[in-house]
Formats: sequence, structure tokens, C-alpha cells
Amino acid sequence: MTKYPGAGEYLPNTDDLAEVRAAAAHCHGCDLYRDATQTVFGAGSPHASTVLIGEQPGNDEDLDGHPFVGPAGHLLDRALDDIGIDRATLYLTNAVKHFRFEQRGKRRIHQQPRRTEIVACAPWLTTEIDLVAPELVICLGAIATQAVLGPKAKVTELRGRTTEAEHYRVGATVHPSSVLRAPDRTQAYREFVDDLTRLFEAG
Ligand code: URA
Ligand code: SF4
Repeated sequence: MTKYPGAGEYLPNTDDLAEVRAAAAHCHGCDLYRDATQTVFGAGSPHASTVLIGEQPGNDEDLDGHPFVGPAGHLLDRALDDIGIDRATLYLTNAVKHFRFEQRGKRRIHQQPRRTEIVACAPWLTTEIDLVAPELVICLGAIATQAVLGPKAKVTELRGRTTEAEHYRVGATVHPSSVLRAPDRTQAYREFVDDLTRLFEAG
């Protein structure tokens, strides 16, 4: 397994989130920067009381430079709308900041980030959480959950509940793109919204 140098050596010594974001644009902490268009850093309120963490930028985010602007982001927007949460009050980011994909003809097919890439990219995520200093962290899907709670953490066991971490409460639900792929989308969407409702209430 490739051992990457990781993002740590690209981290500036600052507590200014904008400076951290600027530094992340030049990160070569693992190989994912090579084929991706750009670093997609977190976005939203820098003093949000809730941080939402996804997996990695998708095709649309890679081209646009901002998290959750594609189909999964639209589903998330709709769910937040339904429970009366204004996205602008949140901070949204991803466990991994570059898009990992496989080129098939003209299409770029999403690939899950490897454990080594999650670990390599973790300094950005840790720094974002430290600087935003939220009360609640919500992990969307397995990759975010494992990035925050360790490789053995399981969304199926944790979803919809929060536990106390050192400086915040942390909870998990499924990734919005899994709702889009679910055989029964209506049911999957309802469960996703139920989880988010309970997580926001608990935080
Ligand atoms: N999926 C994610 O996990 N994050 C994004 O930013 C977009 C899609
Ligand atoms: Fe750096 Fe993360 Fe991109 Fe790898 S995925 S190059 S660690 S920002």
C-alpha cells in the first residue's frame, strides 16, 4: 500500500481558515491532486455551530471548486430545506479534498478514496473542525464516519444518534448519493431526513 507524505507538511501555521484554504489549493499530500482539477476545500459559515462532512468532491464539485454543488448536494439542500435548516449557517466539507475517479471514455467514474488517502488528507479536516469549532459534527456516509470516528465505525450502527467527542457531539447518517441510488428512494429519503432531524435536535 502506498504510504503518502500527507497534508501535514502543507498546513500553514495559522488559525485563519482562509489561509488554510489557500494553502490546501497547493497540497500534494497524496496522488489524488494529479488527475483532479482542483482542491475542493470546505465552505460555509466559518463559525458554524454544525459542520457536515461528505466523502470527497464529485465530478461537479471538482469542476466548480465548491462542495456539494452536484446531484448529491441538491438532495442535501432539499433535505435541509425540509427540516428548516439554512445551508448558509453550516460549514460543509469533505473527508478527502480531491476527486478520485476512473476515466472511462469521456466519463469520469467516482471511486471511493482509499484509507491511505483519507489518512493523508485528514490534517485539512482536523484543522477545519478545530478552527470552525462547531458544537455538532455530522458525518454523511461511511467515508466521513470512518475519517472522524475511526476505520471500524459503521453508519448502520450509528445513524441518527450522536455521541460526545472531545470538543463537540458527533453523529452520522448515510451519504445523500446513496439516497439517489436507493431502490426505494422515497423511503431512503425519509430515513435520511429523519436522521438529520434527530441529529440536529441532539446537537
Ligand atoms: N459528495 C460528497 O461527498 N461531497 C461533495 O462535495 C459532493 C458529493
Ligand atoms: Fe492533499 Fe487531500 Fe488532495 Fe491528497 S486529497 S493531495 S492530501 S488535499
